[in-house]
Amino acid sequence: MASISPDIATRLKPDLIAVVSKIYRDFCNLQAGQQVLIISDARTPDFVIASFQGVAQSFGADAVRIECAIPAGGATYQPGAQWPAMLEAAAAKADLIIDMAVGYSELIVNALKNGCRVLCPGDGIGGPFMDDVLIRTILHADVDSVRKEADLVARRMTKAKSCKIITGPENDVLEIDLSGLEAVAADGYLWDPDRKEWKTNWAFLPPAQPGVLIPVGRGDGVVNVDATLLHHPVYHEKPDSPIKLTFEKGRLVAIGGATPLAATLENWLRGLEDDGAWNGPVHLNIGVNPNALLTQSQEWERVYGSITCGMGDLSLLGQLMGDVGFELSRSRVHWDWTVAQPTILLDGEVFLKRGKLFL
Ligand SMILES: [Fe+2]
Repeated sequence: MASISPDIATRLKPDLIAVVSKIYRDFCNLQAGQQVLIISDARTPDFVIASFQGVAQSFGADAVRIECAIPAGGATYQPGAQWPAMLEAAAAKADLIIDMAVGYSELIVNALKNGCRVLCPGDGIGGPFMDDVLIRTILHADVDSVRKEADLVARRMTKAKSCKIITGPENDVLEIDLSGLEAVAADGYLWDPDRKEWKTNWAFLPPAQPGVLIPVGRGDGVVNVDATLLHHPVYHEKPDSPIKLTFEKGRLVAIGGATPLAATLENWLRGLEDDGAWNGPVHLNIGVNPNALLTQSQEWERVYGSITCGMGDLSLLGQLMGDVGFELSRSRVHWDWTVAQPTILLDGEVFLKRGKLFL
């Protein structure tokens, strides 16, 4: 289990109103008369959902909410999940979707094709302490600095041709060819508040996890995973000692390490009988939020100085981000692993070391 217990409230924090207002104003450029659809499930407290609805109404928007069943299997199985036709119909009418339930899905792909914008306050997943996460990582963080640093990281990664990730007491190396890849800031802003123009049509909070999508076939070497493992079924689990993953040409070929989680992961993957689930890394992202923590919220992907790599499906993410121009991995599942403080060399120069970025 993740090692930190955040504040799980039983009442509305007044601060949540301020952070939701900031999200609508600065991240979404919400205007009067727009149609806002809030998608949720029972994992998220009602006062969080009501805050998103009420604050949107205070902007003069029409805001409705639809609560779905809790999706079976959690985030890992989002690429294969089915959603009710009623939800599809409402999504087709929305200008802005606040998604606290669906994540990677055909439903969201279709909504984007209709010109809708989508913001996921919890990375496509609801949770019992989303209020705490948003207050801590947006209201109590300097998000303008986070956004600007995310832009710098994306620019540096776009320039790089090679990436070496060095982890563990034996300084194992995982090498990823970054040539020809364009990194994105992934800072959660649909709207660029500096340029006063739209930045993207689909974004995740909290900010930020700049990074790259990786084509099939790239990634060789060994990495020691010591932070979060998102796998089956809804767990974001922290190994009690590192899991050693060995890659050859963008395929996971061996799982080692003393922790029982290594065997759990291997048994789960073998049981899936899904060849694509062994593909990876399919994305590489850098956490740049100083207030993000290793909790059971996907905020762990933003922990400052950490890296998160995805495994398995990336085809839906590719559709969500538009045509990326190369082949992306396909699977029924998407899972992730995080290293807390790796050393990263870009083209032989230190880019990240001991939780500090060199930009
Ligand atoms: Fe991922």
